[in-house]
Amino acid sequence: MQPDIARSVVLLGSTGSVGTQSLDVIARNPRGFRVAALAAGGGRIDLLARQAAEFRPEAVAVADAGAVPALREALAAHGVVTKVLAGPEGVAEVAAWPSDIVLNGITGALGLTSTLAALEAGRVLALANKESLIIGGPLVKRLAKPGQLIPVDSEHAALAQCLWAAGPTGPAASAVRRLLVTASGGPFRGIPRSKLGNVTPEQALAHPTWSMGPVITVNSATLVNKGLEVIEAHLLFDIGFDRIDVVVHPQSVVHSMVEFVDGSVIAQASPPDMRLPIALALGWPDRVADAAPSVDWTRAHTWTFEPLDDEAFPSVALARHVGSAGGTAPAVYNAANEVCVEAFLAGRLPFLAIVDTVAAVVSEHTVTEAGSVAEVLDADAWARVRARELTTTA
Ligand SMILES: NC(=O)c1ccc[n+]([C@@H]2O[C@H](COP(=O)([O-])OP(=O)(O)OC[C@H]3O[C@@H](n4cnc5c(N)ncnc54)[C@H](OP(=O)(O)O)[C@@H]3O)[C@@H](O)[C@H]2O)c1
Repeated sequence: MQPDIARSVVLLGSTGSVGTQSLDVIARNPRGFRVAALAAGGGRIDLLARQAAEFRPEAVAVADAGAVPALREALAAHGVVTKVLAGPEGVAEVAAWPSDIVLNGITGALGLTSTLAALEAGRVLALANKESLIIGGPLVKRLAKPGQLIPVDSEHAALAQCLWAAGPTGPAASAVRRLLVTASGGPFRGIPRSKLGNVTPEQALAHPTWSMGPVITVNSATLVNKGLEVIEAHLLFDIGFDRIDVVVHPQSVVHSMVEFVDGSVIAQASPPDMRLPIALALGWPDRVADAAPSVDWTRAHTWTFEPLDDEAFPSVALARHVGSAGGTAPAVYNAANEVCVEAFLAGRLPFLAIVDTVAAVVSEHTVTEAGSVAEVLDADAWARVRARELTTTA
């Protein structure tokens, strides 16, 4: 991609795994992109100030207002003069900042306000923060105009490319038989449920193919992440849950596939590197040259595919259940999971109890429509309280 004028990018969650890889793409393509504004939580102030010194954004926001004095000091030390915004409102203001594209790389349900702020302001939204689409499904879909929402998740970027390969406006809905979302299987692939009782946070954090933030890494070990991605695929591509399958592919090179009614399957393949889907989302629909290394075809490769073990990893079936129920059910699934992951990482909850507790919280929830932000946040808050009660008595 060689546009004459660089596309301006607002980057939310700039200090995280997706955020730093996005800045790597931008730094290597100065003619293609420039940074309009940055936002982060406030946990890594020095990194945020160094990013501001390198990319010179018009504004920087931190969700933790208490981190502002340290941020101002660090910015001054780096000789950066920029507008500083504080608190969740400051992050939302940055999400709506004038720009060509907003990339939401915040982790978890906290990203919902920013997703809605960016869409309301009419920005094109590159969405890594899948949780905001999943928990706020009806709200996000009501706001998003055609073409306004671009997936960053490698699986959904792959699905978009496979559908796109069928024609510039995508295939007729009747031509698609099913979406095949691939899963690495995580660090515990092949281990039966009976042997998963004592696995440790350290083992869960050792992902075999992807280097990511802690929450998504644990979600990859439980396969909750795959469950969230099935819901995400349903919402992004308007395909029923009965036509979205998960296929385990340990090498993480085929990022997902689309099967058409004539029996043909189109797959997207590239070595596991988030910079490719990030670059594609930032440049969409153009491709960014050399965004990431491609498959080395001079070497022998073996790619394998296997079915998911639903007994060891019941999270995907549970996600289908909450996704089909719709309304506030996905928000409850996600919120309960976030609490359980925190408890697991703190050594307070066994691995298998993560999804068992999420299932218990989901079963107690009375689903409502999710017609407003308040309704979603109420369901989210209720699920957190209930999951905390269950995990402290577990
Ligand atoms: N990592 C991947 O390869 C990958 C792949 C696909 C999808 N995703 C999705 O991308 C999202 C980000 O994942 P990640 O792995 O990059 O997470 P991460 O490494 O934990 O980074 C999270 C980022 O969000 C910031 N943040 C936290 N709370 C915030 C708030 N209230 N307002 C603004 N910023 C806030 C953090 O700032 P501090 O540094 O100040 O805490 C950090 O910059 C998740 O939804 C994940 O599921 C990630």
